[in-house]
Amino acid sequence: MIYRSIGGVKASRVAQGCMRIDSLTASQVDALVKTDLECGINFFDHAFIYGGGSCESKFGAFLAANPSLREQVLIQTKVGIHDGYYDSSKERVLSAAEACLSRLGVDYIDFLLIHRPDALVDPQEVAEAFDKLHTQGKVRYFGVSNHNSLQIELLNQYLGEETKVVVDQLQFSMTNTTMVDAGMNVNMENEAAVNRDASILDYCRLHGITIQPWSPFQYGFFGGVYLDDPKYPRLNEKLQEMADQYGTTKTGMVIAWILRHPALMQPIIGTVNCDRVRQIAQASDLSISRADWYELYKATGKTLP
Ligand SMILES: NC(=O)c1ccc[n+]([C@@H]2O[C@H](COP(=O)([O-])OP(=O)(O)OC[C@H]3O[C@@H](n4cnc5c(N)ncnc54)[C@H](OP(=O)(O)O)[C@@H]3O)[C@@H](O)[C@H]2O)c1
Repeated sequence: MIYRSIGGVKASRVAQGCMRIDSLTASQVDALVKTDLECGINFFDHAFIYGGGSCESKFGAFLAANPSLREQVLIQTKVGIHDGYYDSSKERVLSAAEACLSRLGVDYIDFLLIHRPDALVDPQEVAEAFDKLHTQGKVRYFGVSNHNSLQIELLNQYLGEETKVVVDQLQFSMTNTTMVDAGMNVNMENEAAVNRDASILDYCRLHGITIQPWSPFQYGFFGGVYLDDPKYPRLNEKLQEMADQYGTTKTGMVIAWILRHPALMQPIIGTVNCDRVRQIAQASDLSISRADWYELYKATGKTLP
């Protein structure tokens, strides 16, 4: 596993998403997290809303049973979605962060993100909440999710040096590549040219913000897994061909493709299958060629202008 610095800490290039652990028993959570750690994955992504709070609680129960592991893991969680609407008010950010700390059973959270842009956001309030949590030692680093570059710029105008955005978690997979498509179709009239995110990819690269691709194996908005899906015959054929060539699996190949992008993205994987975690970790050390990266991109049906 390769590591890189996010904020100021050593984070694995691949992170384990915990959105789907609510269906697991305590021993399955134990096996998953220990497999992650054996594979070098030290970064765990949560959210206030996952499983209605049960994902954080299950992870907290794991840590309670394995207290020595707290210092070996980086815990990230997200707040700002509440009862079917978005709420990044100071009061809500503070109360949700306290709830996350309590469910996780920890004294501090390593990374706290605003889950989705709140149409009614007051950046001064976010700044006050972040500052309080940081000063109290309850959160080390901050970030956002599903935000575009101007929304980050707005927040950063108000955030102090210690609480500036270091992460933006965004949907990105082999079939959801809008942030890459727009950059290759500049000034064109085609659909791929539509800039949907105020050039978030370039913005994050310019400012050293880590992009965390969520749902790296899904098409659409939770449309399903594109691996082995008959809707993507050419992609699956090419993935298998290259997996054989690079000595990995199609699952591993997807992660190698995301990691090949020089923006140093940190994909958040959602599998709870230990064997898939191992395939992904093994593939995270692969370096695929530029030609193969483009060939896979085109195998999704996309074209280059
Ligand atoms: N910020 C946001 O708005 C946002 C939104 C969604 C998710 N997230 C984060 O991103 C993480 C990942 O999301 P996700 O779970 O949708 O991502 P994913 O890694 O694309 O999907 C994982 C799901 O695909 C299944 N799957 C089937 N075949 C697979 C294969 N060959 N390889 C890998 N997975 C396969 C997995 O099943 P098995 O478990 O049986 O392998 C699992 O149910 C979440 O846990 C969460 O932390 C963030």
